[in-house]
Amino acid sequence: MRDIGIGLAGFGTVGAGVYLNLEKNRALLRERVGCDLAVRRVAVRDLSRQRAVPVPSGVACGTWRELLDDPAVEVVVELMGGIEEPRELILEAIRRGKIVVTGNKALLAEHGAEIFALATEKRVPVFYEAAVAGGIPIIKSVREAFVANHFLRVRAIINGTSNYILTRMAESGLDFATALAEAQAAGYAEADPTLDVNGWDAGHKAIILASLAYGFWVPSKDVLVEGIEKITPADMRFAAQLGYTVKLLAVIDACADGSVEVSVQPSLVPDSNILSSVRGVFNAIAVRGDVVGDALFYGRGAGQDPTASSVIGDLADAALALQAPRESYGFIPHGLYGRLRPSDEVVSPFYLRLGVDDRPGVLARIAGVLGEADIGISSVIQPETDEGQQAALVLMIHDAPRGRMLSALAEIRALDCVHDEPALYRVEAAE
Ligand code: NAP
Ligand code: HSE
Repeated sequence: MRDIGIGLAGFGTVGAGVYLNLEKNRALLRERVGCDLAVRRVAVRDLSRQRAVPVPSGVACGTWRELLDDPAVEVVVELMGGIEEPRELILEAIRRGKIVVTGNKALLAEHGAEIFALATEKRVPVFYEAAVAGGIPIIKSVREAFVANHFLRVRAIINGTSNYILTRMAESGLDFATALAEAQAAGYAEADPTLDVNGWDAGHKAIILASLAYGFWVPSKDVLVEGIEKITPADMRFAAQLGYTVKLLAVIDACADGSVEVSVQPSLVPDSNILSSVRGVFNAIAVRGDVVGDALFYGRGAGQDPTASSVIGDLADAALALQAPRESYGFIPHGLYGRLRPSDEVVSPFYLRLGVDDRPGVLARIAGVLGEADIGISSVIQPETDEGQQAALVLMIHDAPRGRMLSALAEIRALDCVHDEPALYRVEAAE
């Protein structure tokens, strides 16, 4: 039986998980893949560090460059995180004809065009199932299983850490910092958890999914990304009162004019929508294709074993590609789309929470500004306060273009009866 030589760059949460699960299911993998997936090298940053899972003896190296130089390494698995060094490693691995597996969404979202152009030129596959939604096989599904479809839309919860935080805040009343610390301890968060909470980890994944679905690399600088940092327990309570749950939602839509909408924003998801019940570290991706109709993927979106499952799936594909090369290198560009819809033009309903003076005429002034902008209000909540105090005013807004909504909000903020930072969140329309 043939051995496939693997070099692991990174032996943290995911890298160690890949090693442990390759060991655990070695016999099964041999049967299924028809070869032995053998770890030949493991590169880490700090060889002297004490680890829960020790680097296996005889394969440790202090720099990823050794993976490139070792002829026994046929597949380079990049699980280091970061951008510049992984980029260098992956490009050089491709140049040397080594198959690449990576879980690095930040890198692919920023440099996917460059990496896949080189992969195609050199005819070297790059696999990246772990880059989107942890253990859910969404990349393979979009790339292969749904090849017959135009993608009409995708709605996705694709950051386990932020979904975990939102769930713990809503259901157990935890504060933001404690919930984040729990997600970090569980191995869900990025090395820099800012990316999880500011929406960009989900943003990177949405960019990869949209790029794959629509056949062009979506420019990250034009994608609207907002995080969960400003969501308050009050917003969660108001949302619940109105029949919604607050989620960090990736929205990908094929628009009628041929452009593509891509965004990640905190959104109020109707309780009747199955995505509202996705809790904790779980992710879910609802795909609508013109042939398949609706399909829903659900599973753990982060953590050691689920992510290792995706990486090992890619290793099996790499092993097959080594034995029977084929003309598919991980990303297939096509010319049917090519333009991102500017976020100002995107239309949706909104939730708006304002801190206002509790006195006659305030609601009328705010409604007046919205009316002038041709923006309609669908419902209002104003919890009772003692007269003369400040009050929270929550408005549910009918479909409006985001740019027009933001201009109206700027006018509303300038009113002398409006105080505090307003909260404006997209609302996912009921089906
Ligand atoms: P991690 O626990 O921080 O592990 C990173 C590993 O890379 C460590 O072993 C570290 O070495 C090594 N490393 C970092 N820089 C290096 C360098 N310059 N040279 C050699 N080794 C280096 O990270 P992780 O959670 O496993 O995530 C790894 C990648 O998978 C990231 O791209 C992440 O976005 C992605 N991912 C993670 C998850 C998840 O649930 N954690 C899920 C999907 C995708 P030391 O051990 O010596 O520090
Ligand atoms: N930090 C990421 C998350 C890991 O929480 O979803 C999985 O990509």
